[in-house]
Amino acid sequence: DDLGLVAVGFSGGQCKAGVDAAPMALIESGLVDQLQNDLAYKVHYDNEVHAYTSLLPSSDPPHRGMKNPRAVSAVTQELSSQVYAHAKEGRFVLTLGGDHSIAIGTISGTAKAIRERLGRDMAVIWVDAHADINTPETSDSGNIHGMPVAFLTGLASENAENAFGWLKPEHRVSVKKLVYIGLRDIDRGEKRILREHGIKAFSMHDIDRHGIGKVMDMALGHIGTDTPIHLSFDIDALDPSFAPSTGTAVRGGLTLREGDFIAECVHETGSLVALDLVEVNPSLEQNGAAETVRAGVSIVRCALGDTLL
Ligand code: ARG
Ligand code: MN
Ligand code: MN
Ligand code: MN
Repeated sequence: DDLGLVAVGFSGGQCKAGVDAAPMALIESGLVDQLQNDLAYKVHYDNEVHAYTSLLPSSDPPHRGMKNPRAVSAVTQELSSQVYAHAKEGRFVLTLGGDHSIAIGTISGTAKAIRERLGRDMAVIWVDAHADINTPETSDSGNIHGMPVAFLTGLASENAENAFGWLKPEHRVSVKKLVYIGLRDIDRGEKRILREHGIKAFSMHDIDRHGIGKVMDMALGHIGTDTPIHLSFDIDALDPSFAPSTGTAVRGGLTLREGDFIAECVHETGSLVALDLVEVNPSLEQNGAAETVRAGVSIVRCALGDTLL
């Protein structure tokens, strides 16, 4: 199978340096080689970790409370067309981030390509400790990595082209086709949004109650068979004991096996069209960086069809 790989060294959706070094760390640990040789993908990769430096504005003051709005808008707009170009060719698209703001680019790109190629609306499975569904107005931090889902679903919008006004209906996904897994740190405004729109969400409480097997049955049951799926995996969904090197770690998360199991189940549907792996920040923990990178590689391998036996 053909796979398009996009390496995004971008950290402007939040305030901590170092998350831009993740794609290189993941690749240096042998990910591309494993995809080609263990999993037999034909990898289309431009051999570049994109930093999009030429797109970054010299001045980028806050807008509606958002930090770095023009930079994040410009980078995700360009990323959207890169992802679109791969998906349009029928390739699986693997994007290595970067902070989670980059999902504005990846999901908009696949949603548009899937509409054009298959005439279908795509579903999104968002695996994360956080819902990342703040609007600029509900966000306490102003960090855009806490807002991508609001922009992708149209709950937040903006006319200015340089502040996500480039997002058009063909780039968006329906809140009805969105499913969360692993939630445990949701802001007050986000809870209201999830409730008001009846968004399907499986928190750590649900996983404790039902077990991850049942939760995956329910999550995939909500999406239905034969619907293309984009999986956006924030490494902070995993418990910090397995993935400590991330910018907004929250205790009480998924085990490594639960994370891999989610990825395996989504792969087994045969409907997975794209995967994002985000928020690995190798510079935050001296001792935990390597294991966090290893956890990320494992998630990607599982989502791409690696099996235990
Ligand atoms: N809810 C918080 C915020 O909006 C944290 C978001 C963390 N997001 C992430 N992609 N790690 O700032
Ligand atoms: Mn998160
Ligand atoms: Mn919080
Ligand atoms: Mn996230």
